Amino acid sequence: MTGQIMKRNKEDNMALYSEKVMDHFRNPRNVGVIEDANGIGEVGNAKCGDIMKMYLKIEDDVIKDVKFETFGCGSAIASSSMATELIKGKPVSDAMQLTNKAVAEALDGLPDYKMHCSVLAEEAIRSAIEDYKKSAEKTAQQ
Ligand code: FES
Repeated sequence: MTGQIMKRNKEDNMALYSEKVMDHFRNPRNVGVIEDANGIGEVGNAKCGDIMKMYLKIEDDVIKDVKFETFGCGSAIASSSMATELIKGKPVSDAMQLTNKAVAEALDGLPDYKMHCSVLAEEAIRSAIEDYKKSAEKTAQQ
């Protein structure tokens, strides 16, 4: 009986997620590490304490490659996967404008109580771009 209730709760919870969220959660795009990344950002989620690391390979101010690693939940995985797809091949200035709201919209929505998970991707991308800009400045000064 308890098993049946647990199964039903799990199915009800899964129904809260769009097909796109489930697709990106089950088959996340761009997971991993870029060994020669020139922008790396690591952020923690103030709400749940989960961590995200984002790697960027930037050439001529365009994001040539992007990969991520996360200890976040399924919503964080889906959001990061979608976020990396949205910025790949785009100018750095476009990636800087990416909001967690835009990522959630591209996923056909996230439950309200899971919106904080999508913030991880946005913040990690910004942090990686700032890291890239700092390194570029240092190189220019040398
Ligand atoms: Fe921490 Fe979703 S609960 S990222």
